[in-house]
Amino acid sequence: MQLGVETNTRIYYVSGHVELREEVREVPSQRALITGATGLLGRAVYKEFHANGWHTLGCAFRRARPNHLALDICNPSAVRRLLQEFKVHPHVVVHCAAERRADVVENNPQSSYNLNVTASATLAHETAEVGGFMIYISTNYVFDGKNPPYGPNSQPHPLNAYGRSKLDGEKAVLRDLPGAAILRLPLLYGEVTELEESGVTVIFDRIQHANKSASLDDWQRRQPTHTQDVAFVLRQMAEHWMQDKSFGGIYHWASCDIMTKYEIGCAMADAFNLPSSHLRAVIEEPTGNVQRPRNATLDFSALEVLGIGKHTPLRIGLRKALWPFLDDRRWRQMVFH
Ligand SMILES: NC(=O)c1ccc[n+]([C@@H]2O[C@H](COP(=O)([O-])OP(=O)(O)OC[C@H]3O[C@@H](n4cnc5c(N)ncnc54)[C@H](OP(=O)(O)O)[C@@H]3O)[C@@H](O)[C@H]2O)c1
Repeated sequence: MQLGVETNTRIYYVSGHVELREEVREVPSQRALITGATGLLGRAVYKEFHANGWHTLGCAFRRARPNHLALDICNPSAVRRLLQEFKVHPHVVVHCAAERRADVVENNPQSSYNLNVTASATLAHETAEVGGFMIYISTNYVFDGKNPPYGPNSQPHPLNAYGRSKLDGEKAVLRDLPGAAILRLPLLYGEVTELEESGVTVIFDRIQHANKSASLDDWQRRQPTHTQDVAFVLRQMAEHWMQDKSFGGIYHWASCDIMTKYEIGCAMADAFNLPSSHLRAVIEEPTGNVQRPRNATLDFSALEVLGIGKHTPLRIGLRKALWPFLDDRRWRQMVFH
């Protein structure tokens, strides 16, 4: 970790009078706060910053301990204390904490709004108070999926409550911290603690168990994106801001692969040399209480123009994410040792 020098003016009470003294101290020269550090994305982001010269503090809620700070970001005074007291204020806040389960947001609109919108606004406000930069993580669900690909300037039109709450969160953050950055992302996968944690990995057991036929959605087009790529992009964005404080605004990141869940399932089978003949493509629009965009493909060229980006090939990303869950141990040894 690199150290820089900061000067601070402090008030001292000496007998009979008050003195103002300037103190010079060595502090980490790159400091980052990661919210949602126990989540699918936050874990990768915390690791990426921590391993690359950033003094990094992670915070989370139910799973915070023992590695991170436990903090309810819906509590404004706790957020304020954290920002003010984080040794010396963070330069960069990467805000990954959110309610991202679309059905949960649909059924619990008020508590989801508190987390996705109000808490994001509080964090932006407090980040502005300490002169920091914030990156708010958003989603391609801010688009209706009718006119892809979507660039950062495309008109948002969310179809469900989750997309609306994330769009409202974007607006609230930019209102309280106009220099903030928004990074919109599509479907994520990566290192998971359980297969259900990602909308990609969740289908793996159905792929492995070829004795049962499995129906997979072949209607909605996705861009399965590796969390380590996103974490790398976020660190590059943070470092870009450290060099150029005018950097901010709305950006997109995504993989180059545009495919349905059925196609992802076939790619998984292929990556592990498993049969795929038991997979059935469902071409009808899924029914249910949450409407989803058919094709909210993100155009990520604006970051590439800045020299920012990383793409893990899908086959490699799937193997990396899924091998701990593979039933066939011979395969694990053959491929990974
Ligand atoms: N996953 C995807 O496919 C996807 C796709 C596009 C965009 N995104 C966006 O990416 C971001 C990260 O998503 P994710 O998939 O990593 O989510 P996740 O795995 O569900 O993690 C959510 C994180 O938020 C924390 N959290 C929840 N309530 C909190 C509270 N009241 N106070 C403090 N922390 C709280 C959780 O902490 P505890 O678990 O410790 O309680 C956890 O660390 C979100 O903004 C999401 O909208 C995700």
